[in-house]
Amino acid sequence: MTPTPQHATILLIGASRGLGYALAAEYVGRGAHVVATVRGPHRTALHDLLPAAHGRLEIEHVDINDPAQVLSLRDRLTARTFDLLFVNAGVTNGPEETVADVTDAEFTRLMITNALSPMRVIERLGKLVAADGTIAIMSSGQGSIANNERGGFEIYRASKSALNQLMRSYAARHRDDSRTLLLTAPGWIRDTGVGGPAAPLTIGESIPRLVTVIDAQRHRTGLHYLDHLGRTVAW
Ligand SMILES: NC(=O)c1ccc[n+]([C@@H]2O[C@H](COP(=O)([O-])OP(=O)(O)OC[C@H]3O[C@@H](n4cnc5c(N)ncnc54)[C@H](OP(=O)(O)O)[C@@H]3O)[C@@H](O)[C@H]2O)c1
Repeated sequence: MTPTPQHATILLIGASRGLGYALAAEYVGRGAHVVATVRGPHRTALHDLLPAAHGRLEIEHVDINDPAQVLSLRDRLTARTFDLLFVNAGVTNGPEETVADVTDAEFTRLMITNALSPMRVIERLGKLVAADGTIAIMSSGQGSIANNERGGFEIYRASKSALNQLMRSYAARHRDDSRTLLLTAPGWIRDTGVGGPAAPLTIGESIPRLVTVIDAQRHRTGLHYLDHLGRTVAW
């Protein structure tokens, strides 16, 4: 039987496809009410979920790299309270690209989208989260400095490590905040834009477990960096 979600109202940023779409579908399937965002006016996979969601899915719009759009989303949702804010949006680049050959523009694109913008979203939208709620960001195992023995994905790794460091600073600044803070590492998952075709895990092997892990953290204070099996990832 599908477990009842600990987080019953969700604001999910970046859900047009891939893991974000799967998170939206999983939470809707568990009976949660989900406000999920896409970029731009185009129809996405998320729109196809609307009929089966029976009113428990609302689609909003935001490009996290556009501060005006983030503020405008906050203003549209200002009367709402969510149990969980989850920022999933992220991008990758060529896995073999190193600092020797990456362009400034590409480095900046990854750093802004994966590190700066997710943190700005929680700065702007964090107040919409209940005092006993959860603020989570999709990090990656690749963000672990301690576990980087093999290299590869050099620029992507750096952007997720920067995200982790910024979230630690946020946690330090909000030491007395009762909300749970999470950085999640879903595993390397195929058939998504970031994971690519060679990854070992399927979406179905990761996302339902990740949702169970996220829900198990409800009311647990402090910042936690967890994988899809609930294991702490080395910083
Ligand atoms: N797949 C993996 O193996 C894996 C492993 C660890 C961590 N992750 C992380 O999981 C998250 C999702 O990855 P994925 O594999 O599902 O990738 P994906 O299929 O490429 O999906 C990325 C999602 O992020 C959205 N997005 C990108 N830039 C955005 C922006 N500026 N503003 C708003 N939304 C934006 C995309 O929207 P559009 O459709 O509009 O582009 C899309 O919904 C990322 O943070 C990624 O780093 C993935």
